[in-house]
Formats: sequence, structure tokens, C-alpha cells
Amino acid sequence: MKRLVGKTALITGAARGIGQAFAERYIAEGAKVAIADINITRARETAAQIGAIAVEMDVTSQTSIDAAVATTVAELGQIDILINNAALFTAAPIAEIDRADFDRVFQINVAGTLFTMQAVAKHMIDRGQGGKIINMASQAGRRGEALVGVYCASKAAVISLTQSAGLNLIAHGINVNAIAPGVVDGEHWEGVDAFFAKYENKALGQKKAEVGAAVPFGRMGTAEDLTGMAVFLASDDANYVVAQTYNVDGGNWMS
Ligand SMILES: NC(=O)c1ccc[n+]([C@@H]2O[C@H](COP(=O)([O-])OP(=O)(O)OC[C@H]3O[C@@H](n4cnc5c(N)ncnc54)[C@H](O)[C@@H]3O)[C@@H](O)[C@H]2O)c1
Repeated sequence: MKRLVGKTALITGAARGIGQAFAERYIAEGAKVAIADINITRARETAAQIGAIAVEMDVTSQTSIDAAVATTVAELGQIDILINNAALFTAAPIAEIDRADFDRVFQINVAGTLFTMQAVAKHMIDRGQGGKIINMASQAGRRGEALVGVYCASKAAVISLTQSAGLNLIAHGINVNAIAPGVVDGEHWEGVDAFFAKYENKALGQKKAEVGAAVPFGRMGTAEDLTGMAVFLASDDANYVVAQTYNVDGGNWMS
């Protein structure tokens, strides 16, 4: 049985990768989906392939957030589900962290998540029918990593914001929860791998092979491995789940 029939979802950063897999799975479950991405060309291609709509959105701009929410409501009627998925990875030893890089990552990963959540929550509160908000955290938010201080801190902030927003918004029937993936194969990891090649003096592809081999499940995750949790958290089965972050990581982290 399809589990999201009659629901409408806005998914940020869904032009590719994990967000794209969420969009495809939600459509298969009967939902209507808006793919909101700063890369509108790629968003349009993906949307055309899977039967979604594409919406241009830069989560670092309040004007863009408000416009994307308004466009989605105008085109699809309402927003029942938000996935805050857009994010940027960065890595550097503490002595080499660049302030502009820190600002960019925090604007996208933290402020982008908070103010997109706020804009959609206002719509959901006005509508009076509750909703589901899912934030993308990471195993990186569960602990520090020597070369990943800024990204780890940004994902710890996502876990914390999920807790506060979850406690605040459940009074309006809005469930806010998060997913913390481990290492997920895809274009994103090409960039991650390149950072480690630079700072750990590894061949390209070596770090990716190492982290995959270290996963208790026996391999890196795929974007599709995360979609079951995204469907559950968007469904009525999760009505009593509030302010939680779920690890979906093949056993990498336990908390
Ligand atoms: N891939 C992994 O190993 C992994 C692990 C843990 C957590 N995550 C998290 O999962 C989520 C998805 O990761 P992914 O691997 O699919 O990443 P990705 O880099 O493949 O996709 C990110 C998307 O976000 C979009 N984006 C970037 N800046 C934006 C902005 N300012 N406004 C709107 N859109 C913007 C990009 O255009 C891209 O389509 C992210 O939150 C990431 O931190 C990924």
C-alpha cells in the first residue's frame, strides 16, 4: 500500500544524491514533490525524469526561501512534509580553517535548515493540519573529527535545532525529527574523498574504500538505504515520534 497518498513534500537539495532518492521514493509512495535546489538546471532535469516539479531555491537567502515556499504552495496546494536536505561539506585541519568557508557552511547547513524550517512551519501552523519536518543530520554531528571540525559542528547544530524545534512545534501537530546517515555513496563523496586525499596524502578513491570497508554492515550506504526512514518519519506511523535523530548508517554509530 502506498503510504504518502495525498501528501505534498518540499525537499531541498534534491536535484541529485540523497534528496533525489527521497523525491523518487515519495513519488512512488503517492506524494507530490517539489525539488528545491540552487542548481535549477539539474533540478529541472531530475524533476522531469521522476515526475516532480522543480523550484529554484538558495537556502542562504530569506527571499529565496520565502519564494520557494510560496511557489510550492501555489503549484501543489500545500506542504505536508519538508526535508531539509541541502548541505555543503568542507574539511581542513583546525589551523587552516577559513572564516569564509565556515560562514558558507553554517549559512547553508544551519541557518538554511532553521529558516526553511521556520518558513514551512509558519505555513503548516496557518493551515492548521500539522505536518512532518525531517532534517538531514550526519554521523559527523555525533562526534568531532580531526579534519572535519566545521561540518561536524554544523551537523551537531542540526541535531540540536531538531530537538528544540521538535519540542516547540509538536504543539501544532508538527513532528520534527532528523536522520543521521553514515557514509553514503554518490557525487557528494567524490568531493569528500578529494579533501581526504589532500589532507591525509591518500590516492583518490582510497579514503572512500577505507570508510566503506569499516562500516559494520560491510559497505557504504546508498541513497536508497535511507528512504525507508524518510517514508516512516513522513507517515502517520511517526505521529508520536518527536525531536529525535535516527542513525541510518549500517552500524557506524550507536547513540
Ligand atoms: N553523502 C553522505 O555520505 C552523507 C553522510 C551524512 C549526511 N549527509 C547529508 O545528507 C544530505 C544530502 O547529501 P548528498 O550526499 O545527497 O549531498 P549532495 O552534495 O549530493 O547534494 C546536495 C544538494 O544540495 C544543493 N545545494 C547546495 N547548496 C544549496 C543552497 N544554498 N540552496 C539550495 N540547495 C543547495 C546542491 O545543489 C545539491 O543538489 C546533506 O544534508 C548531507 O550533509 C550525507
